[in-house]
Amino acid sequence: MRHLIVITMLLAATPALAVVGGGDIALKNKGGGVQFSHDAHVSEMGVECAQCHDKLYTNVKQHKKVTMKEMQKGKSCGSCHNGKTAFGVKGDCAKCHKK
Ligand code: HEC
Ligand code: HEC
Ligand code: HEC
Repeated sequence: MRHLIVITMLLAATPALAVVGGGDIALKNKGGGVQFSHDAHVSEMGVECAQCHDKLYTNVKQHKKVTMKEMQKGKSCGSCHNGKTAFGVKGDCAKCHKK
């Protein structure tokens, strides 16, 4: 736990160049490509690694695909993107899905 926090602080303090956590993750799906940004979540929003790892995600190879219906019930992105902690998954489609 402690070393995770130190790593987070080190990464957050390193400007540009350095990749934060798993970097930019492309999540292909039928609703239009989604780019998940570690930098935005960790450096800008201050979300800690342990809020997502490993209870929600491990790595790209072991990615568990979820549907928007499941997200609306709190799975994956939907555990925070519920309209309270962060903008919800019932609208704002274009904030996540880019064409
Ligand atoms: C808001 C959620 C979230 C936070 C916070 C987060 N991650 Fe991730 N991480 C993800 C997602 C989503 C993936 C992609 C895994 C998947 O598709 O299932 C991922 C993948 C990774 C991977 C694997 C990349 C690959 O190519 O397989 C590493 C390494 C990683 N994260 C490290 C970190 C570290 C270190 C931190 C803290 C500095 C962190 N993550 C914070 C959501 C998060
Ligand atoms: C917080 C980000 C986010 C928002 C907001 C969001 N999506 Fe998604 N959506 C995703 C991600 C990420 C996936 C891929 C999930 C996976 O691979 O596990 C996905 C998958 C999908 C899929 C394919 C899976 C399925 O449910 O059929 C469709 C279609 C889709 N989204 C449509 C939408 C629409 C329409 C909206 C707006 C009402 C929306 N999404 C809002 C992130 C989002
Ligand atoms: C642990 C909580 C958490 C999880 C899980 C999470 N997010 Fe976020 N996300 C946030 C917070 C907090 C913000 C900033 C508040 C806001 O914009 O409403 C944010 C902001 C964003 C933004 C706007 C900033 C940017 O990157 O341009 C996007 C897009 C986004 N999230 C996509 C996703 C996607 C896609 C997933 C799932 C793969 C996801 N998030 C999972 C907490 C989370």
